[in-house]
Amino acid sequence: MERDDLDFTGKVVVVTGGNGGIGQGIVDVFSERNAHVVVADFAAPLNQRSSLGSGELVDIKTDITDRASIDAMVAQVMARFGKIDALINNAGRGEGMKRLANVTQDTIDWILDLNINGTVNMTQAVVEEMKKVGAGSVVNITSAAALSGPAGKNDPMYAGAKGFLHAFTKSLAADLGPAGIRVNSVAPGWIVPETNEATSQGSFWNVMPIMGKPDQANKAHEDALASGFGGAPTNQSDLPPLRKLGRPRDIGYACLYFASDAAAYATGQVLAIGGGGYMPG
Ligand SMILES: NC(=O)c1ccc[n+]([C@@H]2O[C@H](COP(=O)([O-])OP(=O)(O)OC[C@H]3O[C@@H](n4cnc5c(N)ncnc54)[C@H](O)[C@@H]3O)[C@@H](O)[C@H]2O)c1
Repeated sequence: MERDDLDFTGKVVVVTGGNGGIGQGIVDVFSERNAHVVVADFAAPLNQRSSLGSGELVDIKTDITDRASIDAMVAQVMARFGKIDALINNAGRGEGMKRLANVTQDTIDWILDLNINGTVNMTQAVVEEMKKVGAGSVVNITSAAALSGPAGKNDPMYAGAKGFLHAFTKSLAADLGPAGIRVNSVAPGWIVPETNEATSQGSFWNVMPIMGKPDQANKAHEDALASGFGGAPTNQSDLPPLRKLGRPRDIGYACLYFASDAAAYATGQVLAIGGGGYMPG
């Protein structure tokens, strides 16, 4: 039979923040390929979620800013499945329009706690299990804001926190490669869910609607295209070369690649998925 390195039958994938936005797209892509997917989110989805393949879809309420909550989740996954093949560190958020003059100590504290402490603690807990079997893949969801000055200027604390994750990715990749563990990053551009319902109660779309709801962002994009104005309702000054909005699945497929055996020789990399809005090189 033909080998399919993108099939996840029997594999266990943990997705933080998997109940909303990009996380839902990531969960769907792995679930369709028969993975057992563990959704580690602290909030419920607005839409009903179920497995799209032959694996299980397990929702374990987890707050990544709380180490005890992380450890309890990992213990449950190990008791149920006995292993974790891939960790997708997706949960994260900025404050949107918080330029330097408006940054408060509270802004600094919560952005670093969620995006850095949360990701570091989750990775440390899961990597301990991966080391025991000498295999595993970690994918960190970062942001174009950490790659491009203009994309990050409206939220420097967020951009800086995501930039930390790029350096973290590379140093862990170097450290853990000999142990059989790969670490990579996916840096999304502007990503909008297809509908308002494809979000969670904890999504920034619902708790911090600075961009409006997804339906409004979708309409604003259509209006911008129709009027011939190149700008998008984002912190980008122009639409990316592919001239469309990114979708959660666009990020899901990049995660699928890095987490799969197809990427067996790829580690320490940052892949920018943003319609060509930023082209590192
Ligand atoms: N949407 C974009 O345009 C975009 C662009 C670049 C990067 N990103 C990054 O992609 C990731 C996902 O973004 P999104 O747009 O889907 O955001 P979102 O707010 O829609 O979804 C984030 C999910 O994480 C969960 N979450 C938040 N804090 C948590 C915590 N402490 N513990 C557990 N779960 C928690 C939320 O409940 C939510 O379901 C984030 O890391 C974000 O920074 C998003």
